[in-house]
Amino acid sequence: MKRFAILTGGGDAPGLNAVIRAVVKTADQYGASVLGVRDGFDGFVSPNGIFPLTTLEVRGILPRGGTILGTANRGNPFARKVVKDGQVVIEDISGQIIDRIRSLQLDGLIVVGGDGTLRIARELHELGVPVVGVPKTIDNDISGTEFTFGFDTALSIATEALDRLHTTAEAHHRAMVLEVMGRDAGFIALHAGISGGADVILIPEIPFSFEAVCAKLQTRIQQGSHFSILAVAEGAQPRGEEQVYSIMGDSVYAPRLGGIGQVVGKYIEEHGGIETRVTVLGHLQRGGSPTAFDRWLASRFGAAAMRLALAADFGKMVALDCENIIAIPLNQALDIPKRVDIHGDTMTTARSLGISFGDENQSKTNT
Ligand code: F6P
Repeated sequence: MKRFAILTGGGDAPGLNAVIRAVVKTADQYGASVLGVRDGFDGFVSPNGIFPLTTLEVRGILPRGGTILGTANRGNPFARKVVKDGQVVIEDISGQIIDRIRSLQLDGLIVVGGDGTLRIARELHELGVPVVGVPKTIDNDISGTEFTFGFDTALSIATEALDRLHTTAEAHHRAMVLEVMGRDAGFIALHAGISGGADVILIPEIPFSFEAVCAKLQTRIQQGSHFSILAVAEGAQPRGEEQVYSIMGDSVYAPRLGGIGQVVGKYIEEHGGIETRVTVLGHLQRGGSPTAFDRWLASRFGAAAMRLALAADFGKMVALDCENIIAIPLNQALDIPKRVDIHGDTMTTARSLGISFGDENQSKTNT
């Protein structure tokens, strides 16, 4: 009987449980067994970190957010930060993990994660671990796949938030800023901004000018629209300035983005003379039940990943390509990060709708 393991790493995304369920159910169909690894790669080196996953364990988890396996976004086994005698030291525990994988006599390891987790999977694969990757991130920033699961759910939540902000913005004649996730890629802000009728969208790919943002809002007022909606990615940055962090990070914790919404809101109020309120959507975008699309994609990814593992086709990642699930080399997915194509059709659509990206001077195309 073939034996596989599955782990989920990095920030969670709605649909992780649907992947786990699909992996286990597919293995069951082919007479293989699956072990669950708790809290990312950490499970390989912690007591009770590995446990059998049967169809009973995955019953009822399809609509559940989070991950029944737990996850960790500080668990890089090649550079694990541990506190020893009050000092933070970096340890490479990849050898221990590889030994554990060998002692478990695994025929393959399915790694579900974003770019950071998949990079670790690639390194382990280069050291001989049979790995299959499954792309996960609400940011949708992994190359080679049209979508990652989790993105559609985050998008729906952000769009609903924009709808709700519209009614109160209009009632009070205010500008409303919604800060959404998107560290280096602005897909959530762009897609939700279009779906939710934003007037201004600020994304990491296009450094913006405060003046252009204010000019857009003033033009709307002149045209009789006394309210405005701004969708701002947390990674958006003013031209010539750095991204805005809520926590700068230390030897243990990575820097944490956050606060650009407040910066934009304050500028609009102080320099644009428009009363403004700011909402930070935060982890509401990652929690809760996945949409039907994300369940569909996650189930297809999970089943395809298990089929790849059964066929011993390792070093690859499952991906969505024109309605089909394909397998691409991990290198292809990881070498070039996916970003919003600022000349692509979605951007052209947004500009056709008169949405400002804060990159123009006041002009007729920016009304
Ligand atoms: O990578 C996905 C993401 O949602 C980013 O947009 C965001 O910066 C990050 O996760 C926050 O993760 P956490 O709060 O778990 O550290």
